[in-house]
Amino acid sequence: MKTIGIIGGSGLDNPDILKDAKTIEADTPYGKPTSPLKIGMIGNNRVVLIARHGLSHQFSPTEVNYRANLFALKGQSVDCIVATTACGSLRNEIERGDFVLLDQFIDFTKRRVSTFHESFANGAVHTPMADPFDAELRSHILECAKRIGVKCHPKGTVVTIEGPRFSTRAESLMFQSWGADVINMSVATEAALANELSVPYAAIAMSTDYDCWKTDEPPVSWNEILNIFEKNAERMVSLLKLVVETLE
Ligand code: ADE
Repeated sequence: MKTIGIIGGSGLDNPDILKDAKTIEADTPYGKPTSPLKIGMIGNNRVVLIARHGLSHQFSPTEVNYRANLFALKGQSVDCIVATTACGSLRNEIERGDFVLLDQFIDFTKRRVSTFHESFANGAVHTPMADPFDAELRSHILECAKRIGVKCHPKGTVVTIEGPRFSTRAESLMFQSWGADVINMSVATEAALANELSVPYAAIAMSTDYDCWKTDEPPVSWNEILNIFEKNAERMVSLLKLVVETLE
């Protein structure tokens, strides 16, 4: 039996996907996670679920206690973490509702703690970060996406911005020129921390909008993100279930 951590992002704050679920309040040296831990089963595997932005989406991307979330999952001895996130597309070919299995990040956040090693008082720690998303987990997720026939881009670079505001058009064009494929407000921080804890981490991004680089349509809005995610949430839930059920 494996234990899998799932971090549910915007639009999937509290999915009802666990059998025999119980809820526990966790605490960590970094404070409380953003939601109680929901622990239950999918198939023969144990799942620990956290709502990244809180059960009623009350934490902004800057306020999310990423360290507590990751530390609490590590405390539950998770073998790996699968996160979901809404993202904006910076490429024509990544359409609304498409999934992207991220393989690289660019960290453009500004005001959050994204390390467990702020102090070197007990020795220097510089964590390698060349390939921050777990290759084995990614290929398993991709296989599952193929099996259920959801359109999933096999790789993609995400730029994570601080938010909560969206980007300016100049920023959006700059991120494109940097080679970013999609944009969000959470994943780089989470991936970095998971790597510091040596927990294999993968993130399934769902494209909900074209940010603001396209001039032939209105710029992204929060309502658009929620609408598109809601329309496609069922496919994300099916994918998550299969991914967890078939992890050995
Ligand atoms: N999440 C979903 N769409 C986004 C966008 N355009 N920018 C930042 N985060 C997002």
